[in-house]
Amino acid sequence: MVSISPASPTDAAEMAEIYAHHVLHGTASFETAPPDGAEMARRMAKVLAPGWPWLVARGPDGAMLGYAYASQFRDRAAYRFTCEDSIYIRHDCRGQGLGKALLAALIEACEGCGFRQMIAVIGGAGPASIALHAALGFTHAGTMRSIGRKHGQWLDTVYMQRPLGAGDSTPPGEEP
Ligand SMILES: CC(C)(COP(=O)(O)OP(=O)(O)OC[C@H]1O[C@@H](n2cnc3c(N)ncnc32)[C@H](O)[C@@H]1OP(=O)(O)O)[C@@H](O)C(=O)NCCC(=O)NCCS
Repeated sequence: MVSISPASPTDAAEMAEIYAHHVLHGTASFETAPPDGAEMARRMAKVLAPGWPWLVARGPDGAMLGYAYASQFRDRAAYRFTCEDSIYIRHDCRGQGLGKALLAALIEACEGCGFRQMIAVIGGAGPASIALHAALGFTHAGTMRSIGRKHGQWLDTVYMQRPLGAGDSTPPGEEP
């Protein structure tokens, strides 16, 4: 049985380990040097401070299997109802439905935060990530060609988008 729960700062080291594999061997992240646990904790604090979600999935033995978080898509104020998701599953646990379970929980949490749109920025146009997001209702919103360079290849970035809650069918509860 997999459990999904909010992350805490003590999870940072395990997260750094999961992320390091994808930084070193994959193209989803355009980072090339894996951050350590302390840096991961700093990143987590920046997400949690405004009340945005950071979730972890753990197996029956308590081992971390993956994590997902969301933050405002860009800093400027008019973007405040749009978030971007990030999701990483332990490399040897992919393809077992964990990504789908974590992203579904993240979507729900982001709706609870009042976000109205979610953007996926899919580095390297990874087929698993594109399939995961499509399975949860995201549609293609654009492709930027050859904007990354890693592992000796030019990398595309695919953007996908999904409305959250009422999306743009109603104005937000309050306007500044
Ligand atoms: C992308 C990632 C998060 C997906 O999580 P996952 O647990 O492997 O995926 P799931 O098993 O939940 O599968 C979700 C959907 O994607 C499909 N899928 C999974 N792996 C796939 C692959 N390699 N190729 C094509 N489709 C794939 C599944 O069939 C499923 O679709 P369905 O529900 O319509 O059958 C995970 O593979 C991962 O961490 N990859 C490396 C990092 C990454 O790309 N992160 C995303 C950053 S935006």
